[in-house]
Amino acid sequence: MCGIFGYVGNHTAAPILIEGLRMLEYRGYDSAGIYVPGQGSNKAVGAVDNLSKVLAPNIAGTSGIAHTRWATHGAPTEANAHPHCDMSGAVWLVHNGIIENYRPLKESLIARGIAFNTDTDTEVLAKLIGVHYQGDLVVAVRTALSLVRGNYGIAVMSEHKPDEIVIARLGSPIVIGVGEEGHFVSSDPSALLRHTKDVIYLEDGEIAVISKDTYKIIDQDGKQTQKAAETVSWDLDAVQKQGYEHFMLKEIFEAPEVIENTIRGRLIVEKGRAKLGGLENHKKSLSELEHLSIAACGSAYYAGFVGKYMLEEYAGIPVDIDLASEYRYKANFKNGHDALLAVTQSGETADTLAAVMKAKKSGMLTMGIVNVVGSTIARETETGVYNHAGPEIAVASTKAFISQLTVFVLLTLFLARERGMKLKEGKEIAAALKELPSVLRQVLETAPRIKELAEKYSKYPNMMYLGRKFHMPVAYEGALKLKEVAYIHAEAYAGGELKHGPIALLGPDFPVFAIAPHDDVYEKMLSNIEEVKARGAPVLAIVNDNDHELANLADDLIPIPKVHPILQPIVTTVPLHLFAYYVGVARGHNVDRPRNLAKSVTVE
Ligand code: M6R
Repeated sequence: MCGIFGYVGNHTAAPILIEGLRMLEYRGYDSAGIYVPGQGSNKAVGAVDNLSKVLAPNIAGTSGIAHTRWATHGAPTEANAHPHCDMSGAVWLVHNGIIENYRPLKESLIARGIAFNTDTDTEVLAKLIGVHYQGDLVVAVRTALSLVRGNYGIAVMSEHKPDEIVIARLGSPIVIGVGEEGHFVSSDPSALLRHTKDVIYLEDGEIAVISKDTYKIIDQDGKQTQKAAETVSWDLDAVQKQGYEHFMLKEIFEAPEVIENTIRGRLIVEKGRAKLGGLENHKKSLSELEHLSIAACGSAYYAGFVGKYMLEEYAGIPVDIDLASEYRYKANFKNGHDALLAVTQSGETADTLAAVMKAKKSGMLTMGIVNVVGSTIARETETGVYNHAGPEIAVASTKAFISQLTVFVLLTLFLARERGMKLKEGKEIAAALKELPSVLRQVLETAPRIKELAEKYSKYPNMMYLGRKFHMPVAYEGALKLKEVAYIHAEAYAGGELKHGPIALLGPDFPVFAIAPHDDVYEKMLSNIEEVKARGAPVLAIVNDNDHELANLADDLIPIPKVHPILQPIVTTVPLHLFAYYVGVARGHNVDRPRNLAKSVTVE
């Protein structure tokens, strides 16, 4: 939530800042703004495009800071847009995070005669730094930060030293880009790829100063510390649309490649095993695991839910799954061999991070399924598995979800073979997983038909998704996508729950999207669909190829190939993602940037 970007180097800063903001726009698009020393600030409500339209041409200056906002404190107005400045107008700040004690701080600053111009928590920090600024910006930042509670990634500049940017982090991601002709700061390494792949991740409590030729990092105790740059493995292509109309569509179409990348070097088909580098050192404790807790948010939570079914059925491990935001309210009852598994694309989700910290405190082994290398959760968990799905830009998660399900198949194989799964079964799953990318390519070929169906169903104001077992959480995922990008009232239920209440909603205006592949719960889904049809609700069903029974019952079908049951949820997800995408487009929405949402939810 909120993206910050900064540059100090040889080139004119303004276009670099605007370009950086465009790459970070997925983090929030309520307003955007830049500050260039000597040129003041420019701000606009809404997307970065609005800012670039009002920007004076040829803004001189080779350094500056920039921000794209997801509003927390204060409406998305121009006044509340970052950067914010101190009382003198010389110190400027961009911030990602929340200053929790901003009210008492604001009151005490007002009592000292300091005037405020915005409703934001951030302005308090800008004013506080200004109050403590006596020529040394690092000292002023350090002092001000010692007075605030909350979380932040900040970049600060002073009019008096236009060739330096001071950066600090506590809980919100921030990364330094080391370029040949200058240094950068960004909330996310993907925004730096146009300039450099060499990055330094700032740790909590660290402060850094970047200038054209150098960077300096100061640790929590105020001592200068050495940190070498790491190389980001992503390419610039990965963060561009490459001819697709939207990132969401591009990312759905990447599904086969995502699976190839997720399983690369990790599958030993002839042994029916998965090799997960990060987990190898923990093999013994994992094979003795008596219980596993999974915590995640949004789509990652639904992926975790599918993972729970996989691990319980094939590896025999009892699994609890919690919304990460609720995990904190759980009584601590770690006993025996227990572990917490956090699932997160960004690796920065505040609630998921809080769950990890709670589990760590109670002495549990913490593991992560994380996409973004070097992210906070990747570093805070003891061990885990990277997705290698590549950067996900669209706010709605699609390819990361596919990759998360794939990692759960690998993890299930990894643990199940240690815990008694027979070679034959392991080989069957491994071989089928290897073939899965080509199955998904076939499914993607049906996109034009799914588009037609999406256009038909886009006229309805409601939709209910039904599924059982593996496809219960997949139904939730389908409904979440439809809500996010099409703004349609969508509900999801386990098929068995229908008659316990939700069926009251159904009728000719309330269609049902049934996920009914030919698996061990097919008969039960068939009964549910009969019940739905009896109430006159239209039915769109995902079925396996050649399903004659459902062909006679449902109004519309999306046929998909039948695969090994553990892999079927990966295959059923793709049409659901495509459907939500096409409904969103048919209803004229900006599917890449749904209203009120941000990609990375770094506030609790
Ligand atoms: O980065 P994370 O995977 O931790 O994010 C979790 C959720 O915020 C995320 O999945 C969200 O629900 C997406 N908008 C779903 O499309």
